[in-house]
Amino acid sequence: MPDRTADQTHVAIDFSAITARERYKLLIGTVVPRPIALVTTRHPDGTVNAAPYSFFNCLSADPAILALGVENHADMSFKDTTQNIRLTEEFTVNIVDHAMVDAMNVCAVPFASDIDELAEAGLTAVAGEMVACPYILQAPAALECRRYVSLGLGRSREIVLGEVVNMHIRADLVDQERFYVDQLALDAIGRMGGHGYSTTRDQFDLPTMSVDQWAAAKRPLARAAG
Ligand SMILES: Cc1cc2nc3c(=O)[nH]c(=O)nc-3n(C[C@H](O)[C@H](O)[C@H](O)COP(=O)(O)O)c2cc1C
Repeated sequence: MPDRTADQTHVAIDFSAITARERYKLLIGTVVPRPIALVTTRHPDGTVNAAPYSFFNCLSADPAILALGVENHADMSFKDTTQNIRLTEEFTVNIVDHAMVDAMNVCAVPFASDIDELAEAGLTAVAGEMVACPYILQAPAALECRRYVSLGLGRSREIVLGEVVNMHIRADLVDQERFYVDQLALDAIGRMGGHGYSTTRDQFDLPTMSVDQWAAAKRPLARAAG
């Protein structure tokens, strides 16, 4: 780890003294990379919707809970994703890999509600198994979710927690006996600040130590320092 103690200075930014837009810029610039959920939903009339969300993560494995942070439009109307989840209580999170990045970006275009983003993006919808919304054939993995609970935040945003009830995953990516996923082959992308993205191609392993392992690892460091 580089020694930054000599020249390290921090500035404090009081979040109550800055605008929502400024808070947004600081948060999306520092909480990185964020995974991207390409969320598919289905209106009760059958219209399919797809949109990317990077206020997204996995929060719990038992129950298996994913979280989405969905913002309303500037006029406070709901995005199609929010509207469809409210009406059907279901959504599917499609994991976005590097090969899908341009198609994912098409799904972020603010199309009218009756437009099927998957068709616009050249992505293929496959019928869902345990939920009515389809998943995306090109996605390396897709997680079918039922709404668990929604939390209203302020006037313009809600957090939707969904329980994963079913997963589709490309057969070459998963060890079907031990449930390990090949994350390099998954090739997921992440969202950085602004219009930035990152790959997950630069990975390394770092096992967590037991207290005994830490004590053994620390001894040579202490000798070197003394
Ligand atoms: C990579 C990426 C991540 C995004 N993350 C979010 C997010 O976390 N929350 C949000 O409200 N909008 C997010 N957006 C914007 C929505 O995708 C966009 O408003 C979309 O048009 C909503 O579509 P819908 O009305 O079909 O749901 C993101 C866009 C991109 C490209």
